[in-house]
Amino acid sequence: MGNCLDSSAKVDTAQSSHVTSASAVSKNSSRTSNSSAPSSLTIPSYSDRSGVSSLPTPRTEGEILSSPNLKAFSFNELKNATRNFRPDSLLGEGGFGYVFKGWIDENTFTAAKPGSGMVVAVKRLKPEGFQGHKEWLTEVNYLGQLHHPNLVKLIGYCLEGENRLLVYEFMPKGSLENHLFRRGPQPLSWSVRMKVAIGAARGLSFLHDAKSQVIYRDFKASNILLDAEFNAKLSDFGLAKAGPTGDRTHVSTQVMGTHGYAAPEYVATGRLTAKSDVYSFGVVLLELLSGRRAVDKTKVGAEQNLVDWAKPYLGDKRKLFRIMDTKLEGQYPQKAAYTAASLALQCLSNEAKVRPRMADVLATLEQLESPKSAARVSHSEQQKAHGHLRKSPMRPHRSPLNQIPSASPLPSHRQSPRVY
Ligand SMILES: Nc1ncnc2c1ncn2[C@@H]1O[C@H](COP(=O)(O)OP(=O)(O)OP(=O)(O)O)[C@@H](O)[C@H]1O
Ligand SMILES: [Mg+2]
Repeated sequence: MGNCLDSSAKVDTAQSSHVTSASAVSKNSSRTSNSSAPSSLTIPSYSDRSGVSSLPTPRTEGEILSSPNLKAFSFNELKNATRNFRPDSLLGEGGFGYVFKGWIDENTFTAAKPGSGMVVAVKRLKPEGFQGHKEWLTEVNYLGQLHHPNLVKLIGYCLEGENRLLVYEFMPKGSLENHLFRRGPQPLSWSVRMKVAIGAARGLSFLHDAKSQVIYRDFKASNILLDAEFNAKLSDFGLAKAGPTGDRTHVSTQVMGTHGYAAPEYVATGRLTAKSDVYSFGVVLLELLSGRRAVDKTKVGAEQNLVDWAKPYLGDKRKLFRIMDTKLEGQYPQKAAYTAASLALQCLSNEAKVRPRMADVLATLEQLESPKSAARVSHSEQQKAHGHLRKSPMRPHRSPLNQIPSASPLPSHRQSPRVY
C-alpha cells in the first residue's frame, strides 16, 4: 500500500475511455489533507467468500465497512493491543505507514496481554490525506470479501477521526523482500524459493480467475508475506482494481505501481490488464532466481535494472548460472532453474499478449516442484554448478527452516520507489 498517485475521487468499476499517459502523472503530487471518511467512495463488490461472484457492483463506504467478516476496532483497543504502538513492537515500515505487532483475544478480539491470545499485525496509516484513505478503503473492500490461503487475512480495521488502521493475521517470517535482500536471515534454499513462487502464483491466479477478475497491481517482494512454513500470502490490496468487463480488453487508469515491477505497456499507456500482474510476477521470479532487487541503485549502469541486465541470460542454458543467486552456492537443479528462467522470460515479454496466464505459470511451477524434477539434482550437476560459481571451501550446512529468524523487528529503511 502506499504512496502512489491516483487523483480520481472514486474507485469504481467504470473504465474511462481515455487513457492517462504516464508522462501526465506527476511523481510526487501533493495530497489533499485527510478528511474524515468521505462517504462518496464506491468500490467493486464480490458477493461470496470464494471470490466467484456476479459482476461487481460498486459498494458504498458504509457497506464496505459493515462487512460481516471484519471487526471494527476502536483506536483505544489497538493502542492497547500494540502497547501504545511501542517502537519495539514495530515490524516494518512502508509507504502507507508503520506496521506493529499486537495481541488480541482470539475469541472476543479485544486487546490481550502481550504474549497471550492471538498475534496480529497492525498497520497504521500515516496521516496523508485522501489517497491514503482511498487505498485503505480499497484494501478493506477487497480483503473483506476475498478469502484464499494465499491472500493475507484481514481481521479488522479502525476508522476513528483521522486514524486509519488495518489488523491482519501475523505472518511470522515477514516479507519475501526481507529474506531475499537483507543481510542476516539464512539465505532461502531453492526449494523454499519455488514454494514461495508457487504460493504467490496461486494467489494471483485466484484473483485473475475470479468471476469478477481482480488485477492486483502491486505485486512485488515486499508485498509477499510468509507464514511459519514459508507459505506465501499476498498483502496490500490498496491498488487492486477490477479487471475489464464485457468486450473491453483493458482498464484505463492512472499509472500506479512500483518502479522496476510495473509492466512497460502499462507505464507507457495506462492500459491495465491481468498481464500487467504477470509481468510483475516475472520480475519477482527473477528476484528469486538472482537474489537481486528489481531496481538496485547501488549497482552501476545497466545492472541497476534487473530485467534489462538479466534478460539476455535467461534463455541460454549455458549462461544462466551468471545470473543465479550466489547465495544458493550452486545448490539448485539446473534443469528446473532453466525452466523457471524461461518462464520468467515469457512473463517479461514486452508484448502483453505473449505473456502466459497466471494459471499456466502456476502449472509450470507446480511441475518443477514435483519430486521427479527435484530428484534430477544429480551430484554431477551440482559439481558443475559449483565449478562456475564462487564457493566456500566447505559445503554449507543448511539449518532447518524453522531456525530462520522471524520478521525483522527493525523498521524498513528502504522503501520501494513508488512513483507513477
Ligand atoms: N501481516 C504481517 N505480518 C508480519 N509482518 C508484516 C505484516 N504486514 C506487514 N509486515 C511487515 O511490515 C513491513 C511493511 O509493510 P508495508 O506493507 O507497510 O510496506 P511495504 O510493502 O514494505 O511497502 P509498500 O508501502 O510499498 O507496500 C513488511 O515488509 C513486513 O516486514
Ligand atoms: Mg506492502
